Amino acid sequence: MALTSVFFKNHGINLALVLLILLNIGNSSAQLSADFYSKSCPQLFTTVKSVVHKAIQREARMGASLLRLFFHDCFVNGCDASVLLDDTSSFTGEKRAVPNLNSARGFDVVDKIKSAVEKVCPGVVSCADALAIAARDSVVILGGPNWGVKLGRRDARTASQAAANNSIPPPTSNLNSLISRFNALGLSTKDMVALSGSHTIGQARCTSFRARIYNETNLDRSLAKTRQGNCPRPNGVGDNNLAPLDQTPTTFDNNYFNSLLNRRGLLHSDQQLFNGGSTDSIVRTYSKNMDVFKSDFAVAMIKMGDIRPLTGSNGEIRKNCRRLN
Ligand code: HEM
Ligand SMILES: *[C@@H]1O[C@H](CO)[C@@H](O)[C@H](O)[C@H]1NC(C)=O
Ligand SMILES: *[C@@H]1O[C@H](CO)[C@@H](O)[C@H](O)[C@H]1NC(C)=O
Repeated sequence: MALTSVFFKNHGINLALVLLILLNIGNSSAQLSADFYSKSCPQLFTTVKSVVHKAIQREARMGASLLRLFFHDCFVNGCDASVLLDDTSSFTGEKRAVPNLNSARGFDVVDKIKSAVEKVCPGVVSCADALAIAARDSVVILGGPNWGVKLGRRDARTASQAAANNSIPPPTSNLNSLISRFNALGLSTKDMVALSGSHTIGQARCTSFRARIYNETNLDRSLAKTRQGNCPRPNGVGDNNLAPLDQTPTTFDNNYFNSLLNRRGLLHSDQQLFNGGSTDSIVRTYSKNMDVFKSDFAVAMIKMGDIRPLTGSNGEIRKNCRRLN
């Protein structure tokens, strides 16, 4: 500490700047930028948005599914489109990992986005970037905040089912585990709560909330009864039956946080955020103030999108998001 301050005093502001630049070289996300394709693919944003818009018009849930795909990409060895790779006879991808099997969806829409982008700028835009833009567009179309998506990611030449099994938090997680998993990826506790606000849109399968609706007591009785009506108690019966994650599953609002205050979180992990612990105050803030939630959410999405991207000459620009070139 004493050493560094002497250092700065003697060499002044220029040296401090050089040090800052050096520190940034170790951080590959510093290479992502909002204007990465502004010369090479000026039609990129309108092209992606038009496909996402059509997909959400056809099925409103698709916005939620695309947002979740981006999360499941970024949490497994970084935002590198690894989640999009299909299995082959010699290769096991992430699609059949526990958190994705019978659950992750939207791959066909990603294909449509990629084909449309390939038509206007062949071989230029990565699948990882296309997914990052699609997630943002989905949030905007469903009423959520907008943000400038940082770009320049490249696509992985590999995927890891083991990492997908282990890196995506399960709905049985308790608060400490949620906090530490997000912290390990550079996301703060506040980021974790804001990002969990994604559950303001979309659906969950019975198997993801069965234990909660039959066994947990920090759950509104009438919601438990209603959800039990379409989610039978025995394991294996109605596992894929769906229920909305909050009361307004096609609107990106702060109703998810109001639900938590009323003990109406659907997943065990949802209610952990408001269960007498350290995140209660953040949930209260977001339930009272939609704008604070939306702005924290946008900040946290940019941070999540910065997780370990492949840049420069690493990885590749896949032609088809489902397979290596
Ligand atoms: C905090 C830890 C998290 C846990 C434990 C968790 C868990 C889950 C589970 C179990 C489902 C239902 C899956 C199913 O039953 O098929 C789900 C759905 C969803 N999750 Fe999360 N999630 C978390 C964080 C996030 C984050 C950070 C995002 C996005 C940034 C996100 C976005 C979504 C969306 C949009 C859906 C609905 C998807 C659809 O309807 O297709 N989740 N999540
Ligand atoms: C992922 O988990 C599933 C279910 O437990 C298991 O069958 C599969 O072998 C796991 N994959 C790896 C690579 O560990
Ligand atoms: C509820 O908890 C009991 C005791 O831990 C367990 O045996 C049972 O399988 C649980 N029920 C559900 C639906 O998860």
